[in-house]
Amino acid sequence: LPVAISSKTNHDDNSIATLPTREGWSTPLTLYNNCWLRSHMVAKFMRVKENFKPRHDDVILATHPKSGTTWLKALAFAIVNRSSYEFDDADHHPLLTQNPQTLVPFIGAQGGNLEYLETLPSPRLLATHLPLSLLPSTITTLGCRIVYLCREPKDAFISRWHFDNKITQGVKIDLDTAFTMFFEGCSPFGPFWDHYLQYWKESLQRPREVLFLRYEEIVFDPLKVVRDLAGFIGVPFTEEEEKSGVDQEVVRLCGFKALSNLDINRNGGTERAEGKIFIGYSALFRQGKTGDWVNHMSKEMGEKLDRLVEDKFKGSGLKF
Ligand code: A3P
Repeated sequence: LPVAISSKTNHDDNSIATLPTREGWSTPLTLYNNCWLRSHMVAKFMRVKENFKPRHDDVILATHPKSGTTWLKALAFAIVNRSSYEFDDADHHPLLTQNPQTLVPFIGAQGGNLEYLETLPSPRLLATHLPLSLLPSTITTLGCRIVYLCREPKDAFISRWHFDNKITQGVKIDLDTAFTMFFEGCSPFGPFWDHYLQYWKESLQRPREVLFLRYEEIVFDPLKVVRDLAGFIGVPFTEEEEKSGVDQEVVRLCGFKALSNLDINRNGGTERAEGKIFIGYSALFRQGKTGDWVNHMSKEMGEKLDRLVEDKFKGSGLKF
C-alpha cells in the first residue's frame, strides 16, 4: 500500500522564524538542530527525520557539500545501471544528456520530495547533504548502506567559496568573510566538523554498512574506488567485466573532462530559492583538483584551519 505522508510538520513557519539566521553566503542560513541549513529549505528538511521512510536495501550517498557529490552520484549511477545503457550511446545513456545531480534524488529536496521517493522501486539510490542527526534513526537500525564522502577542509572551503559566488545573482562574498563563517561552523550543512564526525563514527560502528570516502582517494585511484563502490553497493564487477574494461569505462564516463565537456553540463542549469540563485551546472565543475587552496588562501589562514581541524578531530582517529 502506498504510504501516506503528512504534509504538516511539528514546526510551523513561526517557529522557524525564531531560529538563528545569518547572512553572507548566497542565501541566508538558519541554524536548526545544530546544523546550518539554507533558510528556504528548512521547512522541507525538518520533515525528513519524521517522514522519510528508509528501506533496508536503500543505498544513500551522503556527502558534505563541495566534496565531489556530483562525481559520486555519477559513479554510483553508472555502476548500478551499467547493464541498461551503452556508455557511448549519446541518445540513451542518461549521464550524457543529464546532469548527475538530477539522476540521484536528494532526500526531501528538489527532485526528491518524500512522496516521490515512496514511488521508487527498490533498491533505491538516494543522496543527501543532511548530517546523520537530521535523518531518521531507522537508517541505522535497518542497516541501510551509506557511502559518505568528504574532503580536505581547506579545499572544501575554497570550492564552496567559488561556488557560492558563481550561483549568486547579486552581492558576492569575499574570501575573509567566507573564511570567518566557515571557521565558525556557519556554512551550508555545517559545522563541517560535526558533519564529518557523525558519519565517521557511524562508519566505525557499522563498518560493513558505511563506506567512508574522501575526495582525495577518488582522485588518487578512481578505478580502485569504483571497484570498491560496486562491491559495497552489492553489484561487484565480474572478472569478465574487469577484463573487458567496464570498470574503466565507468571511470572515464564520469571523469571531470568527460562530464564537464558535455553540452548539458556546460550550458544547463536550474533555479533555486525562488530565483534568488541559479545553479549553472558548469559551476559544479570548476577544477576537480586537490590542493587548490594554496592558490587562494594565505599560509596563516591555512594553518589556522588546520589547527581547528586537528582540535575538532582529536581522539576520533579522523585525520586530514
Ligand atoms: P573544485 O571546486 O575544487 O573544482 P560537489 O559536487 O559536492 O558540489 O563538489 C564540487 C567539487 O567537485 C568541485 O571541486 C568540482 O570541480 C569537483 N568535481 C565535480 N565533478 C568532478 C569529477 N567528475 N571529477 C573530479 N572532480 C569533480
